[in-house]
Amino acid sequence: MADTITGLYRLFYDGILSRLPEARAVALGQAMLRALPLDRLGAFRLEDPRLSASLGGVPLANPLIFAAMYYDVRILRRLMGLGFGAVTAKTITRHPRPGHPEPNLARVRTPAGPGLVNCNGFQNPGVERFRREITGLPHRVPLIVSVAGETAEDYLALTEALAPLGDLVEFNISSPNTTLVYAWSRRPAELTALLKAAGATSPKPLIVKLSPDFADVNEAEIIPAALEAGVRIVNYGNTRRIEDRRLSQGTGGLSGPEIFPATLANLRRTRARFGDALEIIATGGVDAPDKAVALLREGATAVGCFTGFITRGPMLARRLLEGVRAARSR
Ligand SMILES: Cc1cc2nc3c(=O)[nH]c(=O)nc-3n(C[C@H](O)[C@H](O)[C@H](O)COP(=O)(O)O)c2cc1C
Repeated sequence: MADTITGLYRLFYDGILSRLPEARAVALGQAMLRALPLDRLGAFRLEDPRLSASLGGVPLANPLIFAAMYYDVRILRRLMGLGFGAVTAKTITRHPRPGHPEPNLARVRTPAGPGLVNCNGFQNPGVERFRREITGLPHRVPLIVSVAGETAEDYLALTEALAPLGDLVEFNISSPNTTLVYAWSRRPAELTALLKAAGATSPKPLIVKLSPDFADVNEAEIIPAALEAGVRIVNYGNTRRIEDRRLSQGTGGLSGPEIFPATLANLRRTRARFGDALEIIATGGVDAPDKAVALLREGATAVGCFTGFITRGPMLARRLLEGVRAARSR
């Protein structure tokens, strides 16, 4: 069954999704995710107590996390049944944002395999509507809510509004597509003050999502500040900023296997420097079991992924977990 679904998805991806203009492929992919009750099929999940993990004290059935990308509650509900140990909702801002104009997503063929470059620009319905929509969403697996803003007050207000509806709260300070968020890594002193205020008030564990473009400042200033503020989880990380003239902004964030070596290197350095004081979600470029295995071996608390879900299909979590389980029993 698992092989059949993987084969069918490959035909669908190679034959249709990868040939349509990106915007139409996204619309079709999301429509199918909403329409098909894939979450009701056991074939997508691998349930085994040996895979269990925990993040900020929240128990996870396994260490795979669906990274921030979707806010549509119907899609979040489906994703919660597709084998991930936790699901992250797309970053939400205080007010609705239309995002950057199209083209805001392009496929990239890299030597490492297929990836994406996006300048989505936080297209989202704003906190009020999102809050209404996810109220009542059953947490079949833990839900991580993701927030971003221009000021410390934005983050605190968003945390107050959304923390009660999530199991953990992720502070996105790292999306390269809007200066408002990306600029936080250039203002570490202000960020430190924000993390201290948030760490003291958030009722749920906080995660700081880091940019792979600011390794020095992350490790010299941001992570120490997070730890001092009592924030013990980092997600390392977001997309890598690159130029791409096909996009409306001329630049965007690269995701997919090309960024995997940096994900591994960032994890290794961070684990060596901060030891067990820190929980690390390693995100970026995971599209095959050996990559998830390598990150967990190097001390990742959990592994995040998104682009691999598009390029490899909805069997991704199960495939990765089969690899993790096999590697652990060797
Ligand atoms: C189209 C698109 C939209 C994304 N939106 C968000 C977002 O709203 N918030 C966020 O923190 N990361 C966002 N990301 C980044 C992913 O969550 C993830 O960190 C990144 O893609 C690297 O992982 P991957 O190589 O497995 O995709 C987005 C990525 C893509 C491709």
